[in-house]
Amino acid sequence: MTVDARVALVTCSAFPDLWEDDRPLRDALRARGVAVDVVRWDDADADWTVYDLTVIRSPWDYVARHDQFVAWARSVPRLANPGDVIAWNTDKRYLGELAAAGVPVIPTGFVGPGETWTPPATGQWVVKPTVSAGSQDTARYDFPDQLGAARAHVTRLTAAGRTAMIQPYLSAVATAGETAVLCLPDAAGDLTFSHAIRKGPMLTRTGEHEIDPGSEDITARTPSEAELAVARAALAAIPGGTKRLLYARIDVIPGPDGAPQLVELELTEPALFLSFAPTAANRLADGILARL
Ligand SMILES: Nc1ncnc2c1ncn2[C@@H]1O[C@H](COP(=O)(O)OP(=O)(O)O)[C@@H](O)[C@H]1O
Ligand SMILES: [Mg+2]
Repeated sequence: MTVDARVALVTCSAFPDLWEDDRPLRDALRARGVAVDVVRWDDADADWTVYDLTVIRSPWDYVARHDQFVAWARSVPRLANPGDVIAWNTDKRYLGELAAAGVPVIPTGFVGPGETWTPPATGQWVVKPTVSAGSQDTARYDFPDQLGAARAHVTRLTAAGRTAMIQPYLSAVATAGETAVLCLPDAAGDLTFSHAIRKGPMLTRTGEHEIDPGSEDITARTPSEAELAVARAALAAIPGGTKRLLYARIDVIPGPDGAPQLVELELTEPALFLSFAPTAANRLADGILARL
């Protein structure tokens, strides 16, 4: 079957030929007769109006240019996921909304510019910015020993006009690991479970910011019923519903009682780990075709 359609897969200058895990999607679309262009989100010469659908994949350099990225997303005529979803989802203050809706989110404190932070006295804590990707500016601290470093981290973020997040460090990430639940369109076009992966711990040492995203330890995983339930609860709490979404990734880590807690709901630029599930690239390609 060939279709007269043109799709853009969105990347950044670091991945001019896509991140390798997304190439099966490009190939599956081309096998269906779709013309596929790989385009940088910040390519000033790009004409987004020519595409039947523009699919965000690996624009992972947007964090320092968040406003520009959101403005771009709102300006693209047919974008998956849509621009207003991108605006909502690229700032992790949405976790507060999900928690209020009853989703089991890692208990999260937020400290904005000009606000004061009253740190806890003891325990292991994670400090990170609300706008982030790839574990940037994220670190774990042991209190009270590293209180000074944690304070400096929060101050560095807020002085730059950013909002800091403080969460308990979930130590189960080092044993059970983090589970990423990938949801893609099913035959009826509904966003449902496709596959899952296990990701090893990223914050292996305390007090450090520098993380090599290339060091991610990824394996295929069958999610538990409890993890799938958190995924469904997170999807159900998305403003505007899931009908217009092409993909979602729900990341969870077991909390102190073993029940999964939400780390993030990725509706913007999640790595989809397509190469870990034999049918996932075809399923996503079919989902794209159905939306053209
Ligand atoms: N509260 C936490 N407990 C344990 N590990 C955490 C916690 N928060 C973040 N991490 C680790 O840091 C990584 C990056 O944090 P995350 O919130 O997912 O931000 P990003 O958007 O940068 O992926 C996670 O994949 C996890 O390994
Ligand atoms: Mg993450």
